[in-house]
Amino acid sequence: MTRTGLSTEQLVQTAMDHCIFPLAQMEEVRAKGPTIFVEAEGAHVTDVRGRTYLDMMGTHTRANSLGYGNQEIAQAIYEQLATLHYVGTADNLSEPVIELSAKIASLAPGDLSRVTYVSGGSEAVETAIKIARQYHLNAGRKPRAYKIISRWNAYHGATMGALAATDWLGTRHVSEPGMTGYSFIPAPTHYRNPFGMDDATYEAFCADYLEQQILHEGPELVAAFIAEPIMQQHGVQMPSPSYFKRVREICTKYDVLLIADEVITGFGRTGAWFASYHLDLEPDIMTMAKALTAGYMPMGGVITTAAIADAMPVFRHVHTFSGHAAAAAAALTVIGIKERDGLVDKAKRDGEYLHAALREVLIDKPIVGDVRGIGMWHAVDFTGDKESRERLPVDRTKAIVAKMREKGVIVSAIGTTAFEMAPPLICTRPDFDRTVQVAAEAIDEVAAEMGLA
Ligand SMILES: Cc1ncc(COP(=O)(O)O)c(C=O)c1O
Repeated sequence: MTRTGLSTEQLVQTAMDHCIFPLAQMEEVRAKGPTIFVEAEGAHVTDVRGRTYLDMMGTHTRANSLGYGNQEIAQAIYEQLATLHYVGTADNLSEPVIELSAKIASLAPGDLSRVTYVSGGSEAVETAIKIARQYHLNAGRKPRAYKIISRWNAYHGATMGALAATDWLGTRHVSEPGMTGYSFIPAPTHYRNPFGMDDATYEAFCADYLEQQILHEGPELVAAFIAEPIMQQHGVQMPSPSYFKRVREICTKYDVLLIADEVITGFGRTGAWFASYHLDLEPDIMTMAKALTAGYMPMGGVITTAAIADAMPVFRHVHTFSGHAAAAAAALTVIGIKERDGLVDKAKRDGEYLHAALREVLIDKPIVGDVRGIGMWHAVDFTGDKESRERLPVDRTKAIVAKMREKGVIVSAIGTTAFEMAPPLICTRPDFDRTVQVAAEAIDEVAAEMGLA
């Protein structure tokens, strides 16, 4: 019997009858049923059938940076809800929203100091794009600037403006025609790229491409360039600082605002408060969500400079839940815990440990091509030929991920050649050791099935 009073089978059937499963392959869901989780503690989560997993994905979306069942955060949310749950938007503010804004400004790179809030990452990207457009209109130097340049394989969200900057074709094509004024340039990737260039040459090519694209689109019409500092597609793709140095120069030269989408990477995921710090990147606008509240409340935000915010006499944009007081209380508590317990530094150190362990155990396996990552975000990339770095003839990543889950460790396939880990920052060395061990077993079993072991 479950808490709902239904049997497990009834609960599964009710889910199948009444729930939509975003992004899930329905054939698979129908075959194996949905995964229904019922309770969790720390980095472990238990499903309705009583199976407990080590969740190395920070809850599927990588938002859960502090693990499950944190009473301190729950208490802070409860107290704020009981005191003043919500006061609307515009110039109505609650105390935690003001305190949170100052806190985020103190942690953010460069001159970023003015914050506005939304309910998630896609809305944060929408807001960033609208700030960029309205800034140009109000600042007056490029009043017609509306175009957005994004990158191949970028993920910036599911709402129409963010989706238009997204290059996951499976999600974008079904919603087209979308918004106009967006174009895409190649993004640096390690290990393999479509032109067969070495990594450094490809990175330089991708940066130079931005200048050509701005010239091609018309500099006076280009409002912003948007990029994830470390890209998720193809598995944790981090460029070298020289890429963003060149990108920054080009954006400044053409008065194109640089939007860093830190929705995944913000608030410690990469072993720094923001991934921009690893890359010496000073964006004009930065988006955030996910680990901001560690998933305890839905919240996203955008931070920009005083110069950009002050150029707008009225920022003509609003959401009912901009700056929800209880979400702000959650975010403040999450940031406070990360500071008090040194979790961002811990993520950096643990990331080095996990990376070294993954490399040592996995890199010589016949189908493993690359192991990469930073902080609490790592990927293992597979190949059918270590020389040419070709993909596996048939994608076996899902099979490896499924075997790891059977063995009690949750990771996710990302793209078609890699799996990804984004554990909560509270994970322990034994958790990492277990993950490496389970990954090795799953990879060996799949390689054996392919006749390669
Ligand atoms: C870089 C990036 N931007 C934006 C989003 C959209 O965030 P949300 O799903 O909270 O709307 C995501 C979600 O994964 C993301 O990874």
